[in-house]
Amino acid sequence: MPDTLIITNDSLGLAQAADILHAGGLVAVPTETVYGLAGDARNDRAVASIFAAKGRPRFNPLIVHLADLSEIRRYATLTPLARQLAQAFWPGPLTLVLPLRPDSGLSPLVTSGLDSVAIRLPADPIARALLSAFGGPIAAPSANPSGQISPVSAQHVLDGLNGRIDAVLDGGDCAVGLESTILDATSQTPRLLRAGGLAVEAIEGALGMRVEAAQSDKITAPGQLASHYAPRGRVRLDVTTPDAGDIWVGFGPCPGAKLSLSQAGDLTQAAARLFHTLHDADTLAGAGGTIAFAPVPETGLGRAINDRLRRAAAPR
Ligand code: TXA
Ligand code: MG
Repeated sequence: MPDTLIITNDSLGLAQAADILHAGGLVAVPTETVYGLAGDARNDRAVASIFAAKGRPRFNPLIVHLADLSEIRRYATLTPLARQLAQAFWPGPLTLVLPLRPDSGLSPLVTSGLDSVAIRLPADPIARALLSAFGGPIAAPSANPSGQISPVSAQHVLDGLNGRIDAVLDGGDCAVGLESTILDATSQTPRLLRAGGLAVEAIEGALGMRVEAAQSDKITAPGQLASHYAPRGRVRLDVTTPDAGDIWVGFGPCPGAKLSLSQAGDLTQAAARLFHTLHDADTLAGAGGTIAFAPVPETGLGRAINDRLRRAAAPR
């Protein structure tokens, strides 16, 4: 494939991106969480080429992105719990797993043959404009080669996938910077499948109940694999005193740190900068170096940040 086309964010560009999707092609699209690798969720060939472009080892289920709540009933059943969550948090960085409608028309590759489907209404205006221009359901995992760091800029997408996908729609940096929080909302008991860009505490506040983590069962998602988001070098966590030669990444006051997730110790800023910082640290440390992260508190978005850091540090 020739170089990946860089499409600018204007009405012509959106129409061009929608045309590529209609033709079964792949376009990387900005969302408020991370860039997604978008394809027509009804087109088996398009969905299969998403897996091929990423080099995903298995056919794990993908998230279906929609422009509007009214479209959901064509693909899934909106349970009472899901309705409540949708009202509180959509559009936004929350994905709900819902009962799949048997006549959804979605490619079975999108759902890995499960009888449930993950759905998200993104808040990012460019993602929403493309969804409207396309007029259908878009399947999109994060737009990075399998196992590598998620992209939060168009350049990150090109670094990983140039020549492997048709185009990237350049929408600048992602505002949230972490993948969506995923909840199983198939029953009235919400279960957390992945911590992400919406803090669990916010969900618990809206529902007035505790949200338990799901028991890991049949679904082994790439984001659930122990080693993921991996830079080339070694990663160490909870480092308050770095070794000489470490690329030390601070959180809060860390005198001498080369990089920082947030000098002010702000978790929202740290989330938005996490994947940028991992990319930058990877460049500085190289394959033989060590990236050492200062401790990040395990509350709010800190839970999702620590989840991604633990996977980046896991043995490969
Ligand atoms: O923020 C995000 O969620 C980004 C943007 C592009 O929307 N997407 C993303 O996709 O992170 P991906 O493929 O990296 O993660 C999708 C996750 C997988 O871990 C998968 O297991 C889970 O969604 N998933 C999808 N369908 C599911 C289902 N029916 N049941 C349980 N989990 C499901
Ligand atoms: Mg991913």
